[in-house]
Amino acid sequence: MSAHTATVPPHVAIIMDGNGRWAKNRGLPRIEGHRRGVETVRTTTFAARDLGVRMLTLYAFSIENWKRPQEEVGTLMGLLEYYLKKELATFVRERVRLRTIGRTHELPAGVQEVLHTTIAATKHFTDYTLVLALNYGSRTEVVDAARAYAAAVASGREKFNDSSWATFSRYLYTGDMPEPDLVIRTSGETRISNFLLMQAAYAEFVFTPVLWPDFTKADLAAAIADYNRRERRFGLTSEQLASPAKAAAK
Ligand code: IPE
Ligand code: IPE
Ligand code: MG
Repeated sequence: MSAHTATVPPHVAIIMDGNGRWAKNRGLPRIEGHRRGVETVRTTTFAARDLGVRMLTLYAFSIENWKRPQEEVGTLMGLLEYYLKKELATFVRERVRLRTIGRTHELPAGVQEVLHTTIAATKHFTDYTLVLALNYGSRTEVVDAARAYAAAVASGREKFNDSSWATFSRYLYTGDMPEPDLVIRTSGETRISNFLLMQAAYAEFVFTPVLWPDFTKADLAAAIADYNRRERRFGLTSEQLASPAKAAAK
């Protein structure tokens, strides 16, 4: 897409960061930041849809996050369960499809249960999808995909000689999802923290200093505007993008 044609990125992924610092700045316990962060998840889900985004992926809990103090992990899991239970009716009413990526089978039973219910209740919605990355890590995802792919080769469902990114990538958690067009990270950190390493190969990145609990629809719109100032070249030249027919003829 040309840098001059304003488009909405169909798939936006967000590394939601800064809950702890938001709380610290106010002399509050970290968990207050997470509580406020959940409110931002709620508002951002609908802000993205209103702006025309088709899929929103939110990095909610990384595999590395288990290493945080036990009390914080416990409260985060409790908040997740509370949020999902509270949102189920809204998702159904608003026709939001819920999906997850990550090793969700390792989450607490209560969280798994409400995830299962919500995913089943919303699976036929096609307009807008919220993807929660839960107990997610890119490296683990690649290992899980490699194991599944190896098993498929061993059983004859895949042919070793046909191996390609197109065949292998179907074994990632995101197998049937589009790649993210825009990845946003809040809180001023400029790292990817093991998030969608493969899928973001050609994504545009926007880093904003805004802490996640303060992130608004205007911040999302600003990130999309920034995205629109970029030219996604996918390895080609600007000239080729400007006139594809001419480039192909050469
Ligand atoms: C993001 O906020 C939420 C999770 C990673 C679960 P943080 O808790 O990482 O907040 P900071 O980085 O400490 O400010
Ligand atoms: C990334 O945030 C994980 C999530 C947003 C769930 P972290 O706060 O855990 O990342 P690092 O540790 O600063 O890289
Ligand atoms: Mg953080």
